[in-house]
Amino acid sequence: MLREPITVDPRLVEEIVTREEAEFRGRTPRSHEIHERAKKTMPAGVSSSFQAVPPYPLFISHAQGSHIWDYDGNEYADFHLGFGSLLVGHAHPVLVEALRDQLGKGSLYSLPGPDTVFLAEEMARRFTPIEQVRFCNSGTEATMDALRVARAHVGRDKVVKIEGSYHGHHDTLLMSTKPSVEAAGPADHPNTVPASKGIPQDVKNNTLIVPYNDPEALDRILTEHEGEVAAVITEPVLMNVGIVLPDDTYLASIREITRRHGVLLIFDEVKTGVTVAPGGITEIYPVEPDLICLAKSIGGGMPVGAFGGREEIMRHITNWEVLHLGTFNGNPMSSRAALVTLTQVLTPGAHISQSSWPLPTPVSSKSSTCQCTWFR
Ligand SMILES: Cc1ncc(COP(=O)(O)O)c(C=O)c1O
Repeated sequence: MLREPITVDPRLVEEIVTREEAEFRGRTPRSHEIHERAKKTMPAGVSSSFQAVPPYPLFISHAQGSHIWDYDGNEYADFHLGFGSLLVGHAHPVLVEALRDQLGKGSLYSLPGPDTVFLAEEMARRFTPIEQVRFCNSGTEATMDALRVARAHVGRDKVVKIEGSYHGHHDTLLMSTKPSVEAAGPADHPNTVPASKGIPQDVKNNTLIVPYNDPEALDRILTEHEGEVAAVITEPVLMNVGIVLPDDTYLASIREITRRHGVLLIFDEVKTGVTVAPGGITEIYPVEPDLICLAKSIGGGMPVGAFGGREEIMRHITNWEVLHLGTFNGNPMSSRAALVTLTQVLTPGAHISQSSWPLPTPVSSKSSTCQCTWFR
């Protein structure tokens, strides 16, 4: 629900920005110096364009718990926490110990290890609808891989995404993340607007855009493209444009609509994941998607991603009809980090009381009590 519009005085904004920027520059000369050097060998001086914030990013020396320090020795309360990946905080002692131990035993085998199996079991225990899960290294990979499985399962190419949602930087879904007003098109029938140059037109043609919290618009577009769409992917709670909760019946409506059109429903729980509840959003809303994608906070700060769903869908990987590959998939460092995070740190008891969330009471059939034991 939109609040009453407020009037912002642009001159006041300008004044505040100028003052704060001068203050920032005054206390961060080393970050400036390092950035000037970095720009020579890395575009914009960073490795992810998200980090290229004006006038220059802070260069970080270390972090601990909820605090982070830059190279000028300034200490900050870290409200960013790696886009929520560090729900456990920086350098959690239990994780530090576990990862030190694992590092001493090798960081990459490119063969499976038991931690990945225990982790898969814990994921299946926590998250509806996971019966089977595959691991990758990021949220981007998770949504990319989930789409491939969905397309193979349904036998169609097109996918629908929500305007304003972000699912990572692969071509199919890097569309209409924050389109300009001029390019966005009608609110109830948005255009597909690539967020980057370099995405082929053919890819763009296979991504359709609908507004969030508008089940009628989804029904309409699936009717217009009857028999062409493999999957609808959405964040259950939009988190790329502030935090936008689903209307009471929205998730249930899109579940009914996708079933009626023979289209898979994919929840991107990369951000909601274990942050909203131990079992993610489906612990709170009684809606079962066909596939879910996870990453970020499940890894306790290590790079990990996962996608999973019912066995009948994941079976396409078992059968080698869908290729899912990756040198670092299920690597022992990330698997150990995620396993320790889920079984020793982000236990259900560690979660804040559900009653403090503006969300309905948990309904999941999957247990929210951790039955996991530590395996060694
Ligand atoms: C909902 C959602 N999905 C996917 C991604 C991509 O994750 P990653 O940055 O790990 O590739 C993000 C990243 O912010 C995200 O918020």
